[in-house]
Amino acid sequence: MPFEIWPIGPADREVVLRVLTDSWGSPIVVGHGEAMDAGSLPGLLAHLDGALAGLVTYAVRGREWEVVTLDAVIPGRGAATALLGALRQAARAAGATRLWLVTTNDNTHALRFYQRRGFDLVALHRNAVERARALKPSIPAVSDGIPIAHELELALTP
Ligand SMILES: CC(C)(COP(=O)(O)OP(=O)(O)OC[C@H]1O[C@@H](n2cnc3c(N)ncnc32)[C@H](O)[C@@H]1OP(=O)(O)O)[C@@H](O)C(=O)NCCC(=O)NCCS
Repeated sequence: MPFEIWPIGPADREVVLRVLTDSWGSPIVVGHGEAMDAGSLPGLLAHLDGALAGLVTYAVRGREWEVVTLDAVIPGRGAATALLGALRQAARAAGATRLWLVTTNDNTHALRFYQRRGFDLVALHRNAVERARALKPSIPAVSDGIPIAHELELALTP
């Protein structure tokens, strides 16, 4: 798919906030005990035929890059794969030694998606979502019939 991928710029902030709010209820996302304003993080946008197809935001801490959010606006066409590929390339070019993320136990689609793209499951943080709810009470109790309770940490070497 011929995606156009570019870094989020000031003109993109409004659409970024809309995508994050649609997907996560708010631009504030919580993982590994930390609340992050994904709306103010660096990120990449993917466009397909002029339409927004996906968004990734990330946080850089030293040589470790974290994928904070990844959302397909047009799903199933390769947008997230293209964004992850571009992010991985940027991380490698910057000398990063680790690209990592957390997802939750209910998100079996993401677990499949990331493992098929080279991420390894490196940790299970049991009941981490209980702590996350203290920071973001709107995190639902159940998704897809599965209680949302644990965080799964996945990583790869870029
Ligand atoms: C997980 C998520 C980001 C995947 O996004 P996506 O853009 O649909 O992913 P892709 O299109 O790159 O790949 C998904 C599937 O689409 C299909 N696909 C990919 N490229 C395709 C193409 N060019 N043509 C047709 N189908 C394609 C494939 O079946 C692929 O899965 P597989 O190769 O592993 O079998 C998306 O489902 C999403 O936004 N989920 C909600 C938010 C979330 O959970 N984010 C992750 C946690 S941070």
